[in-house]
Amino acid sequence: LRYMMDIGGKRIRPRLCLTAYALYKDALSEEILSPAAAIEVFHSFTLIHDDIMDKADVRRGVPTVYRKWNDNTAILSGDVMSIESYKLLAKAPAAVLPKALELFSTTAAEVCEGQQYDMDFENEESVPMESYLKMIGLKTAVLIACSAKLGAIVAGAEEKDCDLLYKFGYDLGLAFQIADDWLDTYADPKVFGKAIGGDIVNNKKSWLMTRAFEKAGDLRDSLTAAMAMPIATEQEKAAKISAVKDIYEKLGVGDDAKEEIQRLHNQAMAHIAALGLPEEKADTLRNYAAALISRNK
Ligand code: IPE
Ligand code: IPE
Ligand code: MG
Ligand code: MG
Ligand code: MG
Repeated sequence: LRYMMDIGGKRIRPRLCLTAYALYKDALSEEILSPAAAIEVFHSFTLIHDDIMDKADVRRGVPTVYRKWNDNTAILSGDVMSIESYKLLAKAPAAVLPKALELFSTTAAEVCEGQQYDMDFENEESVPMESYLKMIGLKTAVLIACSAKLGAIVAGAEEKDCDLLYKFGYDLGLAFQIADDWLDTYADPKVFGKAIGGDIVNNKKSWLMTRAFEKAGDLRDSLTAAMAMPIATEQEKAAKISAVKDIYEKLGVGDDAKEEIQRLHNQAMAHIAALGLPEEKADTLRNYAAALISRNK
């Protein structure tokens, strides 16, 4: 547990939780720190299990937990982190605890459901874009949405505001996962902290792959053939990644992804506008969103 928490990470979820809280409270107080930490601990737990499922060797620039120890240790330490996250959440003020627990638990179950879709989709040749969006909505967007809403709940914001912040986090979360999919293929591995091309090797239905099937036309058979290439050795993996990337290049799906990220970002901005906040408060959310989608790791 210490290893996973000490290797860092961007901490975007607790930061959003604190940012949302600060919209309604002048000073950060003890009451929000534990709920914000709960979200990060929960997130880190999902990453430990995700790396087993995705057979990923590197995260945050260091060996993944199951690689450094073994599968059983990773499963069990993930389980303990999930419990630890509830211990932290339980420190939320008593008046908001029922609401906070309901939101957190619903979100946690949704993340598992999304992860199951993600795994199921590895065995499909392609999926409709609608299914992809539902899958990333569950595995990624709801936790970012929950981070924003939890901050507002603990601050005692009105329900209307809590719901708008949820929608803001959700759309931003969709954009965030599409950016993650783009980075999985195109990032600088030293900065990204994860291996490049893992999604392609695993036949993940990433945004790039889903979009590629939408517009493949005559290239459909080449794409299917590339997906079926062997991955037994590092050399074979590299050849498969390069074959799929060639097709992505011809179809221009990398640029399409950038456009879709921008579209979802704009959608998130509309929810900020609906909050009717003073400009300097709205700016804290806008700055957060801008940093999130222009990331390179
Ligand atoms: C990784 O999340 C998992 C996704 C939902 C894409 P982050 O990109 O926030 O990972 P860390 O916490 O910064 O390592
Ligand atoms: C992760 O999606 C979503 C969750 C961990 C719930 P990915 O599998 O794309 O995340 P990374 O790329 O391994 O961080
Ligand atoms: Mg995964
Ligand atoms: Mg993964
Ligand atoms: Mg990824």
